[in-house]
This record gives sequence, C-alpha cells and structure tokens, in this order.
Amino acid sequence: MSDLGKLGTKALHAFPPELAHTLSLKALKSGLVPVPTIVPDPILQTSLAGLGLPNPVGLAAGYDKNGEVIDPLLKLGFGFVECGAVTPRPQAGNPKPRVFRLSQDEAVINRMGFNNAGLVALKERLSSRLGKPGVVGVNLGANKDSTDRTEDYVTSLTALDGLADFFTINISSPNTPGLRALQSKEALDDLLARVMAAKGAAPVFLKVAPDLKDEDLADIAASAVENKIDALIVSNTTIERPESLKSADRAEAGGLSGRPLFDASTSVLRAFAKTLNGAVPLIGVGGIENAETAYAKIRAGASVVQLYSALVYEGPGLISRINQGLALCLKTDGFSKLGDAVGADL
Ligand code: FNR
Repeated sequence: MSDLGKLGTKALHAFPPELAHTLSLKALKSGLVPVPTIVPDPILQTSLAGLGLPNPVGLAAGYDKNGEVIDPLLKLGFGFVECGAVTPRPQAGNPKPRVFRLSQDEAVINRMGFNNAGLVALKERLSSRLGKPGVVGVNLGANKDSTDRTEDYVTSLTALDGLADFFTINISSPNTPGLRALQSKEALDDLLARVMAAKGAAPVFLKVAPDLKDEDLADIAASAVENKIDALIVSNTTIERPESLKSADRAEAGGLSGRPLFDASTSVLRAFAKTLNGAVPLIGVGGIENAETAYAKIRAGASVVQLYSALVYEGPGLISRINQGLALCLKTDGFSKLGDAVGADL
C-alpha cells in the first residue's frame, strides 16, 4: 500500500508543485489514494485540551485550505486534521508561482498568501460533515486588505462555532505583510483578549513563528498563560534560509518548511516548554519526516505533533510508518503511555 502511495507521490513531482497539490486533493477526493489498514496501538492514544486522540500525529494547516478532503485525510491515519487557513472573505493569494519544491533539501518554500474560498464555503463543508468521527480543527487567518485584522479572527471563530473541534489563531504566516506584528506584546494581548471573549466551547490554539527573539518568546508565553490559551503550536514556516540549502529555489521569498526547519522549530519548542513548564500544552511542528523526528519533538515537550512538507516527499504511507515507529520508540524506552514521554529530554 505505502509503496503505491509513494509511487503516486513521486509521479506528482513531474508537475509544478501547486498543480501537484491540486492533483493530490483530487486523488484523495476520488478515493484513488490507497487507504491503509490501521491497527491502532493503545500506547499512542492521548488527549490534548480535552480532545481525545487515537494518535498524536496530526496534519498541519495549509494542505486542505478549504476543508475539501477532511474525511479522506483522517482515513489515512492522522490523529487529527487542521484545515485552513480560512479568511472571512475569499482571497486569491499571491501571484503564481508561489510554492517551490526544494527537492535536494527535502524542503518547501511557499508564499501562498492565504489563498482560500472564504468562511461561507468552509462553513458549508464543515456543516455537511457534522457528526462524523475524527478531530478536526480550523486554522484562522486575516484578509490581506482587512482594516481590523483582530476582528477577522473573531468573525471566523464566531461563524464556525460548533463546527470544529478546535481553532488556531495563526499570526505567524510570513506571507501576509505585517501579520506577524500581531505577535508583539501589546497587539497579542489585545488579540487574545478579544478572541478568548468570543470563544465558544471549542479550545483555541495559538500558532507562532520559529523566528522569535528571547524576549518575544517570553512575552508570548506570558500572554498565552494570562489569556488561558488552550495550546501553543510551535511552529509555522521560517523566513530564515540556513546556509545548508542546496536547491536552486532556495532564495525564493516565503516561508521555508520541511527538513531544514526541524532544528530551529524544535529549539523554539524546547524553549517554550522550559518557559511554560506545563502551563500550556504544546503542539510540535516543523521538519517531522519520520518516527525519530516526531519522537524528538515529543521528548522536547510536545504533547502532540503535526506535519505537512514530508508528505510531499514520503507520500501518505508516512503517517502509519510514523505511528508504528513512535509506538516502538515508546516501548523501547519503557514508557507505558505517550504522555509519559512528553518533555522527557527537558
Ligand atoms: C503552510 N503552513 C501553514 N500554516 C498555517 O498556520 N496556515 C496556513 O495556511 C499554512 N499554509 C501552508 C501552505 C504550505 C504550502 C506549506 C508548505 C505550509 C505551515 C504548516 O502548517 C507548518 O507549520 C510548516 O509547514 C512546518 O511543518 P512541516 O511542513 O515542516 O512539517
């Protein structure tokens, strides 16, 4: 099964990245992607912010922007799926090309710019699958031309109340000019206060950039605790370009993700884990490509993890492989449940 999936993934590399992405969505929709037989291992069961999860491996935001393939993605074995980012009004995003495969580096650079079909379309999709199993979250963004970006998050949160299991306030995309300024102390306090006042029953997570100075990190941690954020997602893509990059497109503008993001995102994760000391659960994202990298995030303090870019190189069989490998890592190290390994390296 996974070989077929990997073959399909390799075949997609014959196409430009954004077309390959569209084709992969179509394949998932039409049932062309082989579905693995999943034998859930109870050692992987966990919970996050009150949500029970069959395993800790989630799909990161940005793949299923419009919530078109949520159920096929869950069938591939993800413990949870985050769709979006959605903005209140539909938005075309940046001019193409705006996504680049850095194959030699197993990385991606994207400057999509929150292209999405908007809140109304996503609301319809989520309404139509209401009651189906699986933990599904929505990543919230702000329209590029919005005059009150904070209000955009409140609008979406309110409109989608009752339709998702969690919401993520994404203020860390590098592709909407000025968005990351919302991570600064004053703006963040105002944003979180307004968002948490509008919150319904579903938990609200905050997603941060990996490119943070120590004082930014301390401010964000304090604000997250003060405003009772339910979890912190660490991290989004980076605007840094490590020296090690070899691929021709390495200087393209946008956010870098995949293998070269692993070290930076894991060290920011570890720093948040040390600062927060369990006060806010963490979701580790950035450069996860196998069980070892997923396990390293967990040992660095992540309660659960998410990934995206490695799917481009490894295909859908990766999810089962990571879960099987994680179960083995836990057993080898003598843990009886996933939760016991969280922060083991700290
Ligand atoms: C993303 N990512 C992203 N994140 C987010 O919060 N909202 C979004 O809309 C998007 N869109 C998006 C598009 C594309 C093409 C990519 C590659 C990534 C970031 C993503 O969720 C994740 O945080 C990073 O990609 C790091 O994880 P990986 O890819 O290294 O596993």
